Order: sequence, then C-alpha cells, then structure tokens
Amino acid sequence: MSTLTIAELEQPLLQTQQDRLRDKFGRAITDLRLSITDRCNFRCVYCRSGQGATPVHELPMADYARIARVFLSMGVEKIRLTGGEPLLRNDLPALVEELYAMRTMDGGRPDIALTTNGHMLAELAEPLKKAGLSRITVSMDAVDPEIFARITRVPRSYDRVLAGIRAAKAAGLAPVKVNCVLMRGWNDDQVERFAEFAREEDVVVRFIEFMPLEEDKVWSRDLVVTLDEIVERLGKVGDIVPLPPNFASETARRYGFADGRGEIGIIAPVSHPFCGHCSRVRLTSDGKIRTCLFSHLDHDLHGIMRRGGTDEDMAAYIKQTVDKKEERHHIGDVGFIKPARAMVQIGG
Ligand code: 5AD
Ligand code: SF4
Repeated sequence: MSTLTIAELEQPLLQTQQDRLRDKFGRAITDLRLSITDRCNFRCVYCRSGQGATPVHELPMADYARIARVFLSMGVEKIRLTGGEPLLRNDLPALVEELYAMRTMDGGRPDIALTTNGHMLAELAEPLKKAGLSRITVSMDAVDPEIFARITRVPRSYDRVLAGIRAAKAAGLAPVKVNCVLMRGWNDDQVERFAEFAREEDVVVRFIEFMPLEEDKVWSRDLVVTLDEIVERLGKVGDIVPLPPNFASETARRYGFADGRGEIGIIAPVSHPFCGHCSRVRLTSDGKIRTCLFSHLDHDLHGIMRRGGTDEDMAAYIKQTVDKKEERHHIGDVGFIKPARAMVQIGG
C-alpha cells in the first residue's frame, strides 16, 4: 500500500467537469485577469486621459491572494496580473510566489502571467521569474522613440521598455509577447517596423484593434486598424503563413514568416469578435468582478470579504456572477454604450 505525501494530502479533491465554473452559454471560465492597482506611470492615449489626478484603488495583496485561491478552487487555471501598471506594487514578487504555491482544481500549478508597460521591467524580470511567473506581455506601441512618447505621453521611456523586453527574455520568460494597440494616424505606420522587430528581437508581436475603452472618448471606427488591413500590410514585408491556435480560447490569430523567424498575432475584437469562446473573468483593483470588458455592472466580491464572508460565500457569489456573463460585446451596434470604466480601471 502506498502512503500519500503531505503535498498529495493537501491537494484539492479532483472534482468532476460539471463542477467547473461555467457560464450559462456553456463557456468554461479558466482565465482570471487580476488587476492589482489602477495607478499607472503612463498615460497611453487609447487608455487614459492626458491630465488630472485620479483616485487610487488598491487592496492589500493578501486579499487578491485569497480571491485568487477561491477562483483556482473553482476551475480557473490561468491568472494574469494586470493594472494599471502592476509593477508599481512593490510587493509584487511576493504575490507571484504566493500564487505559484497554490494549486488549481486538478492539483496542478496555476499558470501565472503578467501584463506590464515595461518601464520598470529591467530590474524586476529576474525576481518575477524566480517567484514563479510563467509569461509576460509588454505593451509597446511604436518601434520609434518619438511616436512611443507621443502615445504614452511620457518622454524617454522607450529605451527602458526595450531593456525590459530584453531582460525578460534573458530571465527566461520567453516567448515575450509585445502588445501594440494600433490607431490610425498615430502608429499605423509601425506595422512593417514591428514585423522586423519581431524577427530581430525574437518576440511575438501582437497587434490589437483599438477598442472604445479610453477615458478621453476619442474612439471612432475610422481609428481602428483592422485585421484585414494588418494582414495585407504584413504580406508586403514577406511571405506570411497562418499558424494554428495554441489553445481553443486563444484570442490572437497567429502568423509566422515563411523562414520560421518571428511571430505576429492579431487580436481583432472589433472586426472579428471572439466572445463565443471567451474564457475570461476580471477582477478590478477595488475587488469587483467584471464578466466582460464591456459590462455595465460590477459585482462587489470584496464586499463579501469585508463583511466577513467565508470562502464558500465567495465561491457562491462568483458562481452566481459568472452566470450573468454577457453573451458578447456590442461594439459597432446601434445603441452601443461605452462602459463607465476605462481600461486602466478594469485591467487588460
Ligand atoms: N483598446 C485596445 N487595447 C487596449 N489596451 C489598453 N487600452 C486599450 C484599448 N482601448 C491594451 C494595452 C495593454 C493591455 C492591457 O490592454 O495595450 O497591452
Ligand atoms: Fe498605463 Fe497600460 Fe493604460 Fe498605458 S494602457 S496608460 S500603460 S494602464
């Protein structure tokens, strides 16, 4: 007879597929986007307004950890830490370490990812990797310091972000993904440059269609550079070949070059919505669940904690909230109303 080790005894009991977190359309919720601050040291035009102080909403790291643990016990397998700018929380490596020590419903390690603007990444890549971070996405909207400064509204950060991307690669966080939100008239001339950049730096560059989630209400359909347009322009740089998705709920359409160097992803929520296989739920930095980027309602999970709720109370609330997940977004439909929260207050 074999004896169980302590680690095995501590694993959650394997539960059946039916117990997993699912919405009423049958979509399995496996991906939690956890925003740990709504502060940011950038003011990207597609996200924040150019001026004005904004109030800060942050919870103690221990509260995010407890929330993550409850989600993991319900079928979530991936946690992406976002913000605001998550590297502004100075106890971040400790949180990653804590998350890495947790277990998913099946007893495996959670997959921990991070989205950052890269400004402070050069120093933090190594400690984050050591703490258990698996993957990283860096936002970078131009391969040109001047355009970069115009979009982020910060001077002289381009070199730091580039150093951050290289440090992440050196720390073993490969493949590093680089997110570029394309906006016509701002950086649409960067498509070809980014294709070269992906090949030179050996990173995955992902172009994202601009969504109406910015504080300044500048979005219009004309500003969106669509998937079709991006593919056409990439075709002029070299022979591009579509690649199969890495997993079923992947949002990016993947493309490679004929010689196998470099990879491009295109995330096209506006022209080619992927709501049908959305596996995501979000927690804002003030502890509210959002079932869609474009929800008009928040669900106050942290309120349950503050009132002394147990993990079971939280799980019941999560289940009931996920049940209300919207079928799809309505960008471009007549009567579309932009959500009151901007991306910086939601978490990418
Ligand atoms: N449209 C599309 N993507 C956006 N992001 C921020 N605001 C928007 C928007 N309005 C992206 C950033 C970052 C991620 C968190 O979300 O580029 O990579
Ligand atoms: Fe900050 Fe990211 Fe918003 Fe840019 S997109 S202002 S880096 S939160």
